[in-house]
Amino acid sequence: MINIILFGPPGSGKGTQAENIVQRYEFLHISTGDLLREEIGNQSSLGLEARAFMDKGELVPDEVVIGMIKDKLEKNRNVKGIIYDGFPRTVEQAKALDELLEEMDSSIARVLSLKVTDNILVERLLKRGAISGRSDDRNEEVIRNRIGEYWNKTAPVSRFYEEKCILKEIPGEGSVDDTFLLLSYQLDKLV
Ligand code: AP5
Repeated sequence: MINIILFGPPGSGKGTQAENIVQRYEFLHISTGDLLREEIGNQSSLGLEARAFMDKGELVPDEVVIGMIKDKLEKNRNVKGIIYDGFPRTVEQAKALDELLEEMDSSIARVLSLKVTDNILVERLLKRGAISGRSDDRNEEVIRNRIGEYWNKTAPVSRFYEEKCILKEIPGEGSVDDTFLLLSYQLDKLV
């Protein structure tokens, strides 16, 4: 099983590129944001708890998302590969993922980190917010809060992987197709 993390701030294109990767490489896509929004849609107690954080643009507590990932991995032991989108977002989550994969005799092959400047992120998310109905895209304050959470809590995760020599930075300001070409160049070396 090939494990790839698509890393980057909100709006860097993780979800968009994960869909392209699934199409070409037939990997399983695990997005913790999508899983949480599903819980909210189902009005589960987990969803209600998560919503309070997500609406403010804050991270949901580690134990909630780690529990969801554990469950998802247990149900998908025989897939060809997994693309993680929006997880891990804290060093605690990164360590928990390493432990879960070790139990499955597996590990992270590569972390592909999309680089996009903050102003372009805000521009993209405000544009999406006009049509998506996502409560965390609704105004610039919440969007900037999400980007702040990224710099405070998530950016250190890239150093965690850099030390393991599995991090690769990918310019993410070009077109969707151009960025996918850069990602594919890296992925082709692994599959
Ligand atoms: P999540 O759903 O993961 O959202 P996010 O990281 O904020 O990511 P986005 O979906 O906004 O951006 P993206 O990088 O996927 O870009 P996308 O392709 O969509 O998380 C939401 C919330 O859930 C978090 O704030 C947190 O509360 C909680 N959460 C989730 N995971 C968690 C975790 N592990 N721990 C704790 N809490 C967690 O693109 C964005 C827009 O840009 C789109 O409109 C797209 O069309 C456009 N676009 C993409 N690429 C390009 C391009 N190259 N050029 C022009 N436009 C582009």
